[in-house]
Amino acid sequence: MEAPNMNQGRGVIERFREFLPPCKTAVSLGEGSTPLIFSPKLSAQIGRSCEVFVKNEGMNPTGSFKDRGMTVAVSRAVDRGVRALICASTGNTSASAAAYAARAGIPCAVVLPVGKIATGKLVQAIAHGAKIVPVDGNFDDALRIVRELGEEKQFAIVNSINPDRIAGQKTAAFEIIDDLGDAPDFHLLPVGNAGNITAYWAGYRELHERGKSKKLPAMIGFQASGAAPIVHNRVVENPETIASAIRIGNPASWKQARAALDESKGAIDVVTDEEILTAQSWLAQMEGIFVEPASAASIAGFFKYCAPQVGAGTLVQIPDGSRIVCTVTGHGLKDPDAILSRVSPLERIPPKIDKVRQAIGF
Ligand code: F0G
Repeated sequence: MEAPNMNQGRGVIERFREFLPPCKTAVSLGEGSTPLIFSPKLSAQIGRSCEVFVKNEGMNPTGSFKDRGMTVAVSRAVDRGVRALICASTGNTSASAAAYAARAGIPCAVVLPVGKIATGKLVQAIAHGAKIVPVDGNFDDALRIVRELGEEKQFAIVNSINPDRIAGQKTAAFEIIDDLGDAPDFHLLPVGNAGNITAYWAGYRELHERGKSKKLPAMIGFQASGAAPIVHNRVVENPETIASAIRIGNPASWKQARAALDESKGAIDVVTDEEILTAQSWLAQMEGIFVEPASAASIAGFFKYCAPQVGAGTLVQIPDGSRIVCTVTGHGLKDPDAILSRVSPLERIPPKIDKVRQAIGF
């Protein structure tokens, strides 16, 4: 038997304490240490001895990368003695905040754009007992209100405008360096409120400065074409996309994302809803990795720019033998409707073996 992964279940604070702001309390659900999966089929798409890996952040306790930052933000909020947590969310932050609040034993309020939260995420917030406040507006409206409420000291804002969230999320870059022995050459990820690209870049830079990695990756971000403020360099008043997690028109970490893109000599572009859904199905059916639509933006971006048949290198030149990491940010089960709405109802048949054999069809 091989040695067990000693980091699995330790949690981000215990594993990376020396790199994080001080936490007396550790409110943890064993987040982090997620799999970095080598993808032979994505690697084959690009060829030229390139290696493509998928960092599966859907394997965190609440099914998204938010847990890495939430453990730090909630632990430090508890240390400060706040009365309650509050956040605006397109869904995953609220699911994560609700779970960590339950773990910490403090109340949590989540302000959500009405009708735009994927079912699984809403169910999570309900299950963990959060106070749910749907607002007749979009995520940007919700975040504006939460920022104002956060000025009252009793609340701790646990959105990524809280630096503790970014500090926790940078640990994903640490893990990738640990697993690969160095940073990758390119890092592809979806961009919404732009906290995650900011966090990854901070993580890569920090280990590089400490001499623990030789390379710095080019950060390559993808926004949905109907919600692409950073790509077009202007606020989008009414963002629209099937990828509800990244349906954001005025990202809070816009400037930091711009800096990450410029400093890393990276790039940002759009992917359409159709490209996102195609990539989601491809990853589920070809590699067995089921992610929510927003997460598939990084894979859609890979196909758009790295796969040879569609104009390789039009966004950035990918040299032979490059190592590419695509982060997939959230689990596919969070948004069942994204799949169900694309299939016709299953046909019922009588419970007879010959009928079942016939229906299987192979
Ligand atoms: N992917 C998923 C699954 C997300 O939930 C988010 C953001 C992103 C990507 C984009 O990350 O905002 O750091 O650029 N979700 C936030 C939320 C906004 O409220 O759950 P980002």
